[in-house]
Parts: sequence; C-alpha cells; structure tokens
Amino acid sequence: MEEVNNYSGLKIGIIMDGNGRWAVARKQPRTFGHTRGLEAAKTTVKKAAELGISHITLYAFSTENWKRSEEEVGFLMKLISKHLKKEMDFYKKNSIRVKVIGDKSRLPKEIIKEIEDVETATDHFTGLTVCLAINYGGRDEIVRSINKALENKQEITENTISEHLDCPEITEIDLIIRTAGEQRLSNFLLWEAAYSEYYYTDILWPDFTEDNLLAALKWYGSRNRKFGGVK
Ligand code: IPE
Ligand code: IPE
Ligand code: MG
Repeated sequence: MEEVNNYSGLKIGIIMDGNGRWAVARKQPRTFGHTRGLEAAKTTVKKAAELGISHITLYAFSTENWKRSEEEVGFLMKLISKHLKKEMDFYKKNSIRVKVIGDKSRLPKEIIKEIEDVETATDHFTGLTVCLAINYGGRDEIVRSINKALENKQEITENTISEHLDCPEITEIDLIIRTAGEQRLSNFLLWEAAYSEYYYTDILWPDFTEDNLLAALKWYGSRNRKFGGVK
C-alpha cells in the first residue's frame, strides 16, 4: 500500500478488540488471543513510530475488565507486567516514550513499579509517545481529574479538567480505531475523543497489520473535520 508521510502531530487511540474471538475461532483459550494481540500491538507501535505519529494510546485493560474470570484477569496482569519488563529495550531501541494512563492504585504493586521504571527510562525520547491505558476508564479519569483540581482549590472549567487528566498531552484525539466490528467507545478516552474521527473494522485485533493501520490513516485523511464550524 502506498504510504503518505504526513502524520506528524497526529494523535490516535486504538481499542484493540477481538482477542478472545480470534482465539476461540482457533479452538484455543482466550488468553492465547491476548498473547497474539500483544504482537499486533508491537507491530502497530513500530509502524506508528516510523510514520511520525505523535501519540498512540492503546486500550489494554479497562476499569470494567475486572469482571472477567480470575484466570483471564490474572493472565492479562502477568502479560502486562512481563511486557513492561521485557520490552524496555524495544522502546529504547525505537526511541519511544511510554506513559501509562488509568487508575494505578488498583494494580499489583510490581506493575506500579515497572510502570515507573519504563516511564522514567523513556521520558527523554522525543519521537512517538505510547500511552498504555491500564485499568483505564474515561469516566473514572474525569472524576479523578476533577478531584485533583478541587484539591488544588482550582475552579472546575474545561481547561482545569483537561490539565488534570492522566496525560494532558492527549486532550484532543484525532482518530479512534476499533477492531472486531464493535461500534462503541466502551469507556475509552471519553473527554479526549469529543471531536475524534471513528474508524471501525471487522478485523480481529491479533490479525491487525501495518497495512490495516495505513488504511485507517488514509480514511482519516479523507475526512472533513469541521469542529462545529462550516467549511
Ligand atoms: C480485547 O479483546 C482485549 C482486552 C479487552 C484485554 P477481548 O478479550 O475483548 O476479545 P473479545 O471481544 O472477547 O473477542
Ligand atoms: C474494550 O474492549 C477494552 C479493551 C480493549 C481493553 P471490551 O471487549 O472490554 O469492550 P466491550 O465489553 O465489548 O464493550
Ligand atoms: Mg472485547
């Protein structure tokens, strides 16, 4: 597919859905889909870095995902922990800055430490920023943001809410991609996605390739963004 390299400054978010269905279709446990989904995430991040995208936010675990079986939740936590430890080199090699959004207080202690380590080790990189959404819920983030502003005795305005979000750099998301055919936000980036363009594809997340990312970006390029005005 032809590549158009005009994505600098672009902020995208991805709802990486369909890991379970991908695995079940192969008569494998759902967890196998998560392992393969992580590979698709790495490929996508690498491509995004190459294309000069500014921020990519990946929905890894929602505040609602605790409802899943203890086995699946435990597997996902271990996978995230292993990834943060093992992939430090991947991020460094590709000059990628890592940020984590979501409520860290409910996460296992070792993950909190690994998050701090990877954020500190990659903070000086100026290329792509990857925001990993872990125990993330859009409503929860807004409530936590308002409480932070109140603690600082600040007036509640759109600006003060934006400033106290987990990663204020992504207050405006340009494009949200969701795989696996579902057309909903599932509590992802509620505040940040107020004026996003939404791209849906039936492809299950573990099957998502660089070409699929390029197709989404090409579609985005064809949108007429009006922000309430008239063009
Ligand atoms: C998305 O895939 C990954 C996470 C929510 C962690 P799912 O696990 O939701 O896959 P489906 O939707 O059941 O196929
Ligand atoms: C959204 O997917 C959460 C992540 C991708 C981490 P879900 O599979 O949890 O969303 P629903 O339940 O279909 O809305
Ligand atoms: Mg799902």
